[in-house]
Amino acid sequence: MFASKSLLLTLLVAVTINSGCTHDRDHPDTPKSTVRINNKIGQINNAERFQKYWEEGAQEGILKRLREVKDERIARNIIMFVGDGLSIPTMTAARILKGQRQNRTGEETELFFETFPTVGLSKTYCINQQIPDSGCTASAYLTGIKVNYGVLGLNGEVERHDCLASMDKSRHLESIAAWAIAAGKDAGIVTNTRITHASPGGAYAKAANRHWETDYDVKEAGYTTEQCPDIAHQLINSSPGNQFKVIFGGGRREFITTSTVDEEGNTGRRTDGRNLIEEWKNNKDSQGASFEYVWNRSQLMSAMNSPPEYLLGLFNSNHMSYHMQSDPITEPTLAELTEAAIKMLNRNEKGFFLFVEGGRIDHGHHQNWHHLALDETIEMDKAVQKAIELVGDDSLVVVTSDHTHVMTINGFTERGTDILGASDRLGWDGTPMLTLSYTNGPGARTHVNGIRPDVTKEEDYLKHLEWRAHAEVPMEEETHGGDDVPVLAHGPHHHMFTGLYEQNQIPWRMAYAACIGPGLHADGCNAASTHLPLFMLYVLAIVLLVSVMQR
Ligand SMILES: *[C@@H]1O[C@H](CO)[C@@H](O)[C@H](O)[C@H]1NC(C)=O
Ligand SMILES: *[C@@H]1O[C@H](CO)[C@@H](O)[C@H](O)[C@H]1NC(C)=O
Ligand SMILES: [Zn+2]
Repeated sequence: MFASKSLLLTLLVAVTINSGCTHDRDHPDTPKSTVRINNKIGQINNAERFQKYWEEGAQEGILKRLREVKDERIARNIIMFVGDGLSIPTMTAARILKGQRQNRTGEETELFFETFPTVGLSKTYCINQQIPDSGCTASAYLTGIKVNYGVLGLNGEVERHDCLASMDKSRHLESIAAWAIAAGKDAGIVTNTRITHASPGGAYAKAANRHWETDYDVKEAGYTTEQCPDIAHQLINSSPGNQFKVIFGGGRREFITTSTVDEEGNTGRRTDGRNLIEEWKNNKDSQGASFEYVWNRSQLMSAMNSPPEYLLGLFNSNHMSYHMQSDPITEPTLAELTEAAIKMLNRNEKGFFLFVEGGRIDHGHHQNWHHLALDETIEMDKAVQKAIELVGDDSLVVVTSDHTHVMTINGFTERGTDILGASDRLGWDGTPMLTLSYTNGPGARTHVNGIRPDVTKEEDYLKHLEWRAHAEVPMEEETHGGDDVPVLAHGPHHHMFTGLYEQNQIPWRMAYAACIGPGLHADGCNAASTHLPLFMLYVLAIVLLVSVMQR
């Protein structure tokens, strides 16, 4: 009895002391007091210490917004950039890395696309999945319809793997690339993943499983390619893929057989004896069109001296390499691919739709390779900048993401701290934490005697690109996240992209701006000369009406 009373007293005292204490563990007075890590980059701009700096920035911001608030012109071209897995923390961390590479503190830096006048947010869930994959999201942001997890271009009546359900044509969805072609525009797709991968697949494929990239994959699932043609086959032989003027990416292996060796010595994955690269050439040849197939950067560059009507570039057997690990002699950068694609498409006076994916941001994150994920983001930003340099102000450019990842920016880290490294704060266990940490993935370290290991003491800490950032829950691959993604817009009707909306609304809004597709169109669309036949019909109707009335 006495013992329990004293325990109660002790507890009461402890609670009183704690609540009376001014020390705030959540927002520490001296975040750096626990540890000093010498990983600071750049100097804080001294002007920031005076109000004037922030006041002037704010006034400039208002004037800029007033100039940009609306743009009612009709978009001739649409260029859509998707950073696969480009979460908001990825965007923030990439801008800091960009600044720190220039020896600045980094936080104040802007990525190029961050200067776009309009920013919105999109909700990425799929019909049957809180946290989506790149297949259902690509279907949403390219066909305008949300679908089931892992499905490409087939409505919600089709579950993943259900080939037979996918044979019903009424369940097939058309992408904005097809809408553009139907309106007389040209279309093209660019990615640094396999061109048959989920995101670019959203532009042309109808597949009950995003993994059905070759006939082998379809047959392994127990179906025939007569029932469900594989994704590579659809790109080459079905509409709209067979009408794309530009197709750039990796994934050569999906187009050739297991006994065919490509230019770089790799065999393919097909078991149907087909060479789809040759089929693509034959198709173009039989149409009397000029065409070229390229597999390396120098071929691409020389093809661009006198561009053919159709250009197919497959620059790797599998995904193209991460930019920081690529051979720049054979593999073009995403910016170079974007430039070549725009030069190809810009010849159509009715305009074009171009899809560009920075697809390896996602792969970096899945491995907890934070440096590679951020560098791939910076590479996509360079491609966006190149696009804006090349096109006129009649082009709507939208930059967005399909889904997020579970990398956080944490730790009360001091200004200018190396974004790739440790925070100034220690955990209660006395062990440092990384500013960029993952909640799960292969970077999880086994605890030793119940203690979290100090990753900054690892021999190869930050020494190479494949050093994994810390993760909490061990998994073979880090997972996607379920939070909203940014949508940034520039050019005609950019203001359509403000707000928070479902991801599938994006293509409808782009199509609205460009007067294409089945949905609503901008006001100016009716005035466009493309509607002359409708106007003639009107005149005819009035003439008829008048003559009937006169009788
Ligand atoms: C950053 O600083 C390092 C070391 O002083 C220097 O070698 C490098 O050229 C600088 N980089 C830039 C972009 O200024
Ligand atoms: C690029 O391809 C062409 C045609 O196959 C070949 O002649 C050239 O050597 C290749 N370039 C490189 C750097 O591999
Ligand atoms: Zn992914």
